[in-house]
Amino acid sequence: MNLKDKVVIVTGATSGIGEACAKVFGLEGAKVIITGRNQVKLDNTLIKLQNFGIDCAGILADAGNEEDNRKMAEFAMEQYGRIDVLINNAGISMRALFEDLDLDVFRKVMDTNFWGTVYATKFCLPEILKNKGSIIGVSSVNGFRGTPARTAYTASKFAMNGFFESLRTEVMKRGVHVLVACPGFTASNIRNNALTADGSAQGESPRDEDDMMTATEVATEMLNATLKRKRDLILTRQGKLASFLNKWMPGMMDKIVYNHMAKEKDSPFK
Ligand SMILES: NC(=O)c1ccc[n+]([C@@H]2O[C@H](COP(=O)([O-])OP(=O)(O)OC[C@H]3O[C@@H](n4cnc5c(N)ncnc54)[C@H](OP(=O)(O)O)[C@@H]3O)[C@@H](O)[C@H]2O)c1
Repeated sequence: MNLKDKVVIVTGATSGIGEACAKVFGLEGAKVIITGRNQVKLDNTLIKLQNFGIDCAGILADAGNEEDNRKMAEFAMEQYGRIDVLINNAGISMRALFEDLDLDVFRKVMDTNFWGTVYATKFCLPEILKNKGSIIGVSSVNGFRGTPARTAYTASKFAMNGFFESLRTEVMKRGVHVLVACPGFTASNIRNNALTADGSAQGESPRDEDDMMTATEVATEMLNATLKRKRDLILTRQGKLASFLNKWMPGMMDKIVYNHMAKEKDSPFK
């Protein structure tokens, strides 16, 4: 796929992987629509993209709100008259034991990560079918391997993976490409903003963010996978190893994952 003058929507593009995707896809010549929930952050990202010469526009849209997603697709059509690529990136994380977790927090994570993906895909699909474009889900290593104290996050990413496997097969004879991207640990704001048991933000990352892939590296891998119309992308050596071991030795992986995550700063389990 040549991205020159194609229209790419990136949900949740005011930070991290989404902002990097907007830049990386925009630098390939795509026109870019970005979303987020905060006008100031949205404007700041638009200015950054425009400074790179990228043709872009932004709309405030809460991923978990069906109507906002309908408006996002309409906005893209008004601005640029077509939609070729949808990057379902908007996401939040959480960190708490399930026994302590307020169910509203569980719902919020599912609303943003899973339902946000379903809504955006629903409203963009007619155009993407017409243009034989791409739908991308920014899932996670947690989309195929759960971690303790991340039940809602893991459930939302497994749900995304199942949704896209089914949809990919459904549209396989109609020229639509579906990519599920599973980043490993990537330096971003996700762990600062992760919700705790009562729904308040965690505030700081419990991991060394300097020791992770950068958002730009992830976005570049996603761009290459999109251009090659790949079905899956698993990132980081740790992510690839987790995929292999979980397939063949899931019981051993339970112990490895438990011990690894228990070492995180302020882990809720030991
Ligand atoms: N970083 C990692 O280690 C990692 C690993 C695997 C997968 N991922 C996935 O990568 C995606 C991007 O995360 P990130 O690491 O780049 O995190 P980030 O830096 O926190 O960025 C998240 C983005 O999503 C937006 N967002 C959050 N809730 C939203 C909502 N309800 N509606 C619209 N936008 C919303 C945020 O914008 P506003 O706050 O302005 O709305 C922000 O632009 C997520 O789906 C995440 O699960 C991340």
